[in-house]
Amino acid sequence: MAKTKAEPQTGSMIDIGIGTKDRAKIVEGLSHLLADTYTLYLMTHNFHWNVTGPMFNTLHLMFMTQYTELWNAVDPIAERVRALGHPAPGTYAQFAALSRIKEPEGVPKALDMVQMLVKGHETVAKTARSLFPVAESAGDQPTADLLTQRLNVHEKTAWMLRVLLEN
Ligand SMILES: [Fe+2]
Repeated sequence: MAKTKAEPQTGSMIDIGIGTKDRAKIVEGLSHLLADTYTLYLMTHNFHWNVTGPMFNTLHLMFMTQYTELWNAVDPIAERVRALGHPAPGTYAQFAALSRIKEPEGVPKALDMVQMLVKGHETVAKTARSLFPVAESAGDQPTADLLTQRLNVHEKTAWMLRVLLEN
């Protein structure tokens, strides 16, 4: 079987019932998801450090819960890429090129941080959702399962942040 350009030469062929082209397509989507998740992790940890104002304690602790969850999430995404036969992106340059998350400039006000995190979680949810039909049609259940879990977390977290912006 011919290999796509994107796939590195490895010692042994991967034979898991997902074709070379499908694996490359899924890996492309997972790489965006990994970069988005890592970038959102960093933004959330940044806001944990730098948040100020009367909501300090609430937001400082809430952001800690969220960045810890995001930090733990990057590993299974990267390892799914590896299981599909490709190298996982792992540099800031690669993440900057792949991520769709808009990074903060300076130190935003507390509620602007919340707004940016809502947008961030919504962006990751859209990245995960756009990959879902690709994984499903390729019969890649582990990736579909991973995407379902990530969608659940990002949509729930976006809700929890969004309500902080209500009067
Ligand atoms: Fe801390």
